[in-house]
Amino acid sequence: MKLVVTAGPTREHLDPVRFLSNPSTGKMGFAIAAEAARRGLEVVLVAGPVALRTPKGVERVDVVSAREMMRETARAAKGADALVATAAVADWRPAHCSRTKLKKREMAGVLRLVRNPDVLKSVRVPLKVGFAAETGGDVVAEARRKCREKSLAFVVANDVTEKGAGFGTDTNRVAFVFPDGEVRRLPLMSKRRVARRVVDEIISQMKA
Ligand code: PMT
Repeated sequence: MKLVVTAGPTREHLDPVRFLSNPSTGKMGFAIAAEAARRGLEVVLVAGPVALRTPKGVERVDVVSAREMMRETARAAKGADALVATAAVADWRPAHCSRTKLKKREMAGVLRLVRNPDVLKSVRVPLKVGFAAETGGDVVAEARRKCREKSLAFVVANDVTEKGAGFGTDTNRVAFVFPDGEVRRLPLMSKRRVARRVVDEIISQMKA
């Protein structure tokens, strides 16, 4: 069985030294890739710029921008059975990227943005799993919406404002949200243990 995992942030450059990004460290995605490889799956990990070692037995492809992540994930997805998207992909990028460092006098104080492609929505594989990073509100309702909109087998929802959850931590508190309305809430646990539960669910759905 072949699994593709996206992980980490993307960077959307304005010029060679400035970019839009977010605090994803890749820990959640790397933990899933490591666990899947340990369980004998063929794993391709498409990673944004992070400072983590490649897990044993995993093929890693490094990317910077959302468009690169789109291209490499689509390439890796050929013949794959499943995709898990843990990456925090920037939804927007600057409309123009300068080849040289912008001078202060060249900056108008307004940044025009254009939409990036949605990697998870666009890539075709038999089974897709998304993550939903929420900041309060109805986390489950948002996850359910993403599940429907992106045709997902399930969504792993996390409230990134909660202590011990989300970006950069070694732990996470997540809920698995299924398209039929089922919600499975897990307690705060290490990202390694969350990864084990995610891979368990993927393997069981792939065998079904
Ligand atoms: O990397 P860590 O520091 O360990 O942090 C982990 C995490 C907080 C990044 C992770 O747990 C998480 O929540 N990842 C999803 C982040 C996110 O971008 O969520 P979203 O709700 O905006 O996106 C929904 C889903 O669509 C995600 O699976 C995302 O990978 C995917 N997506 C979003 C936008 C886009 N242009 N392309 C995508 O593939």
